[in-house]
Formats: sequence, C-alpha cells, structure tokens
Amino acid sequence: MKPPEELLSAAILAREKAYAPYSGFKVGAALRGSVAKIFSGCNVENASYGLTICAERTTVCNAVAAGIRTFTQMVIVADSETPCPPCGACRQVLFEFAPNLELWVANLSGETKFYRLCDLLPEAFGPAFIQIPKASELF
Ligand code: THU
Repeated sequence: MKPPEELLSAAILAREKAYAPYSGFKVGAALRGSVAKIFSGCNVENASYGLTICAERTTVCNAVAAGIRTFTQMVIVADSETPCPPCGACRQVLFEFAPNLELWVANLSGETKFYRLCDLLPEAFGPAFIQIPKASELF
C-alpha cells in the first residue's frame, strides 16, 4: 500500500527542517488531522542528548497544539537504507491519540513500508486503563 502523496511530500519537506547536528540523522513526519489539515514535524536534538525529540512527537504536538486530537494516518521519512519504523517512545505517544493509526515509513530512495500501530505496539497501555479519581477522593 502506497503512502498518501500529500503526506509524503509534507514529511519530506519537514525533514529538511530537522535539527540533528549530533546524529546527522534527519527525520520528517506528517499526519492528516480530522479537519483535513496536514501537520508535520521534524526531530529536534539537544546538546543534552536525552532531551532530543523525535519527528513523530513534534508532529503530534503540533497537531494537538492546534486543537487537533484525531488523526488516522501518518508518514515518516528518513534517509535510511531501508525505511525505518518509529521508536518505542513515539509508538506510545501516537497510541494516545490514534490507536488505529495507519502509518507509512519511507526513505529518500522511494522505498516505503506500511504498518498499523496496533501491530507495532500490541497490548498497549493507554487512556482506557486510567480511572481519573474524583476531586473528593483525592484528599
Ligand atoms: N528519530 C526520530 O525522529 N524518530 C524515530 O522514530 C527514531 C529516531 C531521531 C531522533 C534522533 O534525533 C535521531 O533520529 C537519531 O536517533
């Protein structure tokens, strides 16, 4: 299954903005929100390496900050030999908003691979497990 063209080109463009001076590994991502608008993001590294944010997470944050919490498709692009799937932390963050996400990974040679998030993160922990206590139960 081929990635949606619009998302692929948005992810390629976003990748060019990546701030990756430490790894040199630039990643771009794009998703289509429920109101048919596309959001994108890139990885943003930090001199304190552990604070690096992946492209998938900046993309989700961009959508959420614009008021969009519903999305079903994402494309991720990196210059890897074979298209590379999202890291574990990103799978968890994606699951919060899009448990049924369809996702395509692509490299710059045009190879693509399709996944469903539920296959990448089986038996996931998510919002459904949390029972938020009432204020009266907190004290
Ligand atoms: N990276 C992403 O942006 N997404 C992933 O799913 C995997 C890794 C970034 C983080 C870091 O800036 C660089 O790739 C090397 O790990």
